[in-house]
Amino acid sequence: MNDLTKRLPFDAERVRADFPILNQEVNGHPLVYLDNAATTQKPRAVIQALVDYYEQDNSNVHRGAHALADRATQKFEAARVKVAEFINAPEARQVIWTRGTTESINLVAASWGRANLQAGDRVLVSAMEHHSNIVPWQLVAAEKGASVEPIPVDANGTLDLAALETMLDERVRMVACGHVSNALGTVNPVADVVRLAHAVGALVLIDGAQAVSHWPVDVQALDCDFYAFSAHKLFGPTGLGVLYGKRDLLEAMPPYQGGGEMIETVSFAGTSFNQLPYKFEAGTPDIAGVIAFGAAIDYLNQLDRAGAAAHEQALLDYAEERARATPGVRLVGTSAHKTSVMSFLLEGAHPNDVGMLLDQQGVAVRTGNHCAQPIMEQLGIPGTVRASLAFYNTRADIDRLFEALEKVRQFLI
Ligand code: ALA
Repeated sequence: MNDLTKRLPFDAERVRADFPILNQEVNGHPLVYLDNAATTQKPRAVIQALVDYYEQDNSNVHRGAHALADRATQKFEAARVKVAEFINAPEARQVIWTRGTTESINLVAASWGRANLQAGDRVLVSAMEHHSNIVPWQLVAAEKGASVEPIPVDANGTLDLAALETMLDERVRMVACGHVSNALGTVNPVADVVRLAHAVGALVLIDGAQAVSHWPVDVQALDCDFYAFSAHKLFGPTGLGVLYGKRDLLEAMPPYQGGGEMIETVSFAGTSFNQLPYKFEAGTPDIAGVIAFGAAIDYLNQLDRAGAAAHEQALLDYAEERARATPGVRLVGTSAHKTSVMSFLLEGAHPNDVGMLLDQQGVAVRTGNHCAQPIMEQLGIPGTVRASLAFYNTRADIDRLFEALEKVRQFLI
């Protein structure tokens, strides 16, 4: 991890060596990890950052009058700056630590939504959203008498932008849309969504949980109002996420949770709140997680990310080509613009059985509805088998998947 590595073209085999967990056997077979949309594995540098923090720096942040607290605070805030630079946020204070994408969206729905939605207002979400970008809006909409409506998605899994355009009017206050569908792999045209929504005065929240690990995201270029993502899907620790927001919006929003850190002064006559980002960071945060997430960002910054993205895209193309050539396999999600996710069905077999039999051969995938029941219902299926890629996957992993799938096919069909 130095300038030399950065100059080296992307090489998945070399990068794999940075991820100790990949080097193991599962059920008597070398592990093939194809569940990266659920969570990515962690490079050694991230694991070491967690150990270093607890062995050397463990202390609370922003509070202590001692060396350990200073060190912890400096590293904690340095990670915020790294993340801000990583997504090209104008200022680090626009990066708010949360528990994950789900909490980031709940924060906006609860804080902005309660303060701004009124009876008759409309919130639009794509029909392929993860539950975490549907339910928080339903909760606040029910409270306020607003509605949550799906933006249509076609049978390939492509967002219908023309339909969005016809749905937009001045009662639409928020459009919430995934950057990449976790269930189908569709890459949504979020810059177009932002442009169309802004034209009627609506705000846009993008769920970037499945996007940030695949290519550089620039929140200013997208001009989105909010962008949410999780550390654990970006090679960092679990239990930590980010909410980016435009500063004027965040400044105007009321606090989400009350407690320590988020206040300026407290009295029984009235309490005033801290400045950004602390206004939204009640309680002791996941300090170790934040610092280790900073290590994940450092790790990504030394990679040839364009090469990594090209590698992932070539792998997805290869996997889908093999799926099309395999009797009985039907791809679910065939939009023209996809990344990293191959959802499929094996004719005559339940996805859960397929997943279990793949696991017996050391191949880890996810099965089920992927927390996206509305799109599964629209497609008339109970769920899918989902193989999802990260840059450390190789063609050999895809070959192993299809060898294992062939055995499943012979066994089940
Ligand atoms: N949302 C994660 C997934 O798609 C957990 O698997």
